[in-house]
Amino acid sequence: MSNATYGKEISKVLITKEQIEKRAAELAEEINRDYEGKPLLIVCILRGGAIFLSDLFTKLRGDVELDFISLSSYGSATTSSGEVKLIKDLSTPVEGKNVLIIEDIIDTGLTLSYLIELLSARKPASVKLCSLLDKPERRKVNLQGDYVGFKIPDEFVVGYGLDYNEKYRNLPDICVLNPEVYAAK
Ligand code: PRP
Repeated sequence: MSNATYGKEISKVLITKEQIEKRAAELAEEINRDYEGKPLLIVCILRGGAIFLSDLFTKLRGDVELDFISLSSYGSATTSSGEVKLIKDLSTPVEGKNVLIIEDIIDTGLTLSYLIELLSARKPASVKLCSLLDKPERRKVNLQGDYVGFKIPDEFVVGYGLDYNEKYRNLPDICVLNPEVYAAK
């Protein structure tokens, strides 16, 4: 798919839906190997993470629980301020469980470090992180994903669950947003 499909608001397609599906299957295999015989609690971060979860979740084998948490980082439309707010907590107890967080992107790392701290206080057996995308250049805290789909450059990406002002989440590919879209605001 080219940006001719999407029009001028999209500069280019960075990662196609097909590439994502292939990578999600590889990550699921890795996770299955690492957690063989161990029950797992998947914690998906709403909202963006839910799209990646849908490609990953049914490929996981064994005893797998699923729960959702909603967090919001304040800031402008394209940058985060570092202040994270808990919008919806888990319904499932975490104590003694192997937790795997599913996220769409690690950017500054502030959302994830907040969540890891929150969950760690509930005494899980382990906490690991699986993120489809990782933008290491933007990191403000020392945090790494245990399972990472793609490392990407510092460009503003949308699609496959990622938004700009709540738009573009439904694009099937990960796309670079034309800077003119947010410069105009
Ligand atoms: C985005 C993204 C991550 C977070 C990453 O969520 O889904 O949760 O920002 O940024 P960070 O590493 O700089 O903290 P957002 O708050 O935009 O919520 P959304 O998923 O509902 O769009």
